[in-house]
Amino acid sequence: MDDRLVSFDSTLEDEAIEFSLRPQTLEQYIGQDKVKHNLKVFIEAAKLRNETLDHCLLYGPPGLGKTTLATIIANEMEVQIRTTSGPAIERPGDLAAVLTALEPGDVLFIDEIHRLHRSVEEVLYSAMEDFCLDIVIGKGPSARSVRVDLPPFTLVGATTRVGMLSAPLRDRFGVLSRLEYYTTEQLAEIVERTADVFSIGIEREAAGEVSRRARGTPRVANRLLRRVRDFAQVKGDGFISYGITEMALELLQVDRLGLDHIDHKLLMGIIERFRGGPVGVETIAASIGEESHTIEDVYEPYLLQIGFLQRTPRGRIVTPHTYEHFGMQVPE
Ligand code: ADE
Repeated sequence: MDDRLVSFDSTLEDEAIEFSLRPQTLEQYIGQDKVKHNLKVFIEAAKLRNETLDHCLLYGPPGLGKTTLATIIANEMEVQIRTTSGPAIERPGDLAAVLTALEPGDVLFIDEIHRLHRSVEEVLYSAMEDFCLDIVIGKGPSARSVRVDLPPFTLVGATTRVGMLSAPLRDRFGVLSRLEYYTTEQLAEIVERTADVFSIGIEREAAGEVSRRARGTPRVANRLLRRVRDFAQVKGDGFISYGITEMALELLQVDRLGLDHIDHKLLMGIIERFRGGPVGVETIAASIGEESHTIEDVYEPYLLQIGFLQRTPRGRIVTPHTYEHFGMQVPE
């Protein structure tokens, strides 16, 4: 986990606050219209038929609201949610313990489901398909297999890496929903809703400015808002005006597009030391003192998304947008 203000990773502070901010119904959930609309239909249909909802897989970049949606699904189905994560389930027995403790209809939420051990995944197949577990008891010649019936349940899986899921697991989900980056308008709505929950006043232009710098991600938007609120309370009268917001974001070193000092270091490094590229990610990593997988997983996705960086077979290159953003002449 990194400590950047614009990181997509969730911090303990984010988690505590996201919990209290979390919308409770699909109606309150802003954005992801396609996903929301489909889920609404599937939930209504399942309730009409008195059935459990099909297993759902939510995937997409971090910070876009997968956990929030899982909670809403349980809420709308009027059932309980049990939450765990791929790395937390180490052995098949751990999964059996979780599954046998479910009440009929419950939602089991498995975050980072791509990180499940293969041995656990295999137990999950029959649980998802037939609501039963085949467990081997004992060892050697006296070992025998027993079948345990499970209550019907809905598995909601979340992952940032859908490509890492095995095909048999992916195929057992009836609903696959991809979450997208939010538009600035949607983020502004979320920021205004959050300010409302915090009972603080915010100027429309201020909400817009926070949103433009939030990298398409509600988690980043809400985190920036909290820091801007600190400035508004200490340097002003608590009201979040456009002026205070500009000043705060300037001091926080988050630029007009949400880029921070590490993005600047990375991009300027490619421009100044490698003439804009192409340059291999390992070389970039060594030149700025970061791990290459951190660059790939944490720094690059947003830079690729906004077209400031491109991956080519010969390495990374910056684009004319990058030069323009830094007020530099685009080389021939
Ligand atoms: N808070 C964080 N994400 C949200 C969303 N998508 N809708 C409403 N409030 C949110």
